[in-house]
Amino acid sequence: MKQNVIAVIGCGRIAQVHLAAMAEMKNPPRIKYGCDLILEKAEKSKEKFPLIEQVITDYKVALEDDEVQAVWILTPNYAHYTITMDALKAGKHVFCEKPITVNYALSCEMAEEANKRGLMLNIGVCNRYHASVEKLEEMNRNGEFGNVYHVYCSFRSSRSIPGLGGAFTTKSQSGGGVLIDWGVHFLDLILYILGGAKLQNLTCDTYCEMAKDMKSYKYTSMWAEDTSDVENGTNDVDDFITGYVRTDKASISLNGAWAQNLPKEKNEMFIDILGDKGGARLTYGGQFTFFDGATLESKESDHEIPNMYRKENEAFLESIHTGVKTKSHIDNILESAKLLDALYQSAEKREEVRF
Ligand SMILES: NC(=O)c1ccc[n+]([C@@H]2O[C@H](COP(=O)([O-])OP(=O)(O)OC[C@H]3O[C@@H](n4cnc5c(N)ncnc54)[C@H](O)[C@@H]3O)[C@@H](O)[C@H]2O)c1
Repeated sequence: MKQNVIAVIGCGRIAQVHLAAMAEMKNPPRIKYGCDLILEKAEKSKEKFPLIEQVITDYKVALEDDEVQAVWILTPNYAHYTITMDALKAGKHVFCEKPITVNYALSCEMAEEANKRGLMLNIGVCNRYHASVEKLEEMNRNGEFGNVYHVYCSFRSSRSIPGLGGAFTTKSQSGGGVLIDWGVHFLDLILYILGGAKLQNLTCDTYCEMAKDMKSYKYTSMWAEDTSDVENGTNDVDDFITGYVRTDKASISLNGAWAQNLPKEKNEMFIDILGDKGGARLTYGGQFTFFDGATLESKESDHEIPNMYRKENEAFLESIHTGVKTKSHIDNILESAKLLDALYQSAEKREEVRF
């Protein structure tokens, strides 16, 4: 197969993960451009990953290059929509990190544009390529859980507000806090394991309590601290969220915290799948325990967990050639974007949302 030619737009934290995953590929693409608004960030990435051929600060240079087939959009959430639309209009296939963008309406526009132009638009829902998630999806399809009537998920940490005062905690730039940043992964993989589900109604509450006075927020370490701005920035997003969702399949309950006043030993990142034959607890990012309701025996999974970022990137590149949409094509992610949006609407109005 001819080597793909791509550009990477945004050379921040997640870009390092994607670049490392590409370097691991059997047939890595030619990364003709590494682009970042901050030149040094692009240069540092090029030093670390010689796969990058040249660095630029204006992504339009890559969009104007006929040789470039696809772009990876690895910028903060607020830039996903504009860059994706520009790239599609320039005839490029797009891999865009999660969340699709800051709300559902714009997400639908992105999907329409890609489909109208016959271009691939995949979203970085990497967990769909996590070996444990793939196995749980297969087990559910094979009836090993019986009727899955409820799924519970918890994504709670003692102190993990990212870049306080910066893009992550500014709603107009991020679309929200812990729900859109972490919940997006949990809810998407739940819908994937369930084999899709029709949303019926839901209720949700969100809270912004832990750093409402940004200067007095106490923490031991902060990820994305380089983007933090407690002096002049904004924190108007959810640091805690609780919700309940009814679907035509299982109901789903969720609790998420970027920060909570509990010791870090109480951090809980897991998903419980409850079926009438069996159940499973997935430790987020790791292995799972299956409990068989007939034998009352538990079995810990111990499979290999290959790099899910490499797998999602390989699947995207392959789909450009085959024209077959993958499980992370935007068409398959819109339902979880709709769910996120509706949870926020319910919290804002303090009432149930019906579909
Ligand atoms: N799939 C995952 O597990 C995962 C994990 C972390 C982050 N993400 C997502 O990846 C995205 C980036 O997050 P991050 O933590 O890497 O952020 P980051 O701030 O570390 O990196 C973003 C980079 O984009 C650059 N940038 C912004 N606008 C640009 C533009 N117009 N042109 C070129 N460069 C531009 C910034 O200068 C910055 O270097 C977010 O949407 C986030 O939700 C996904």
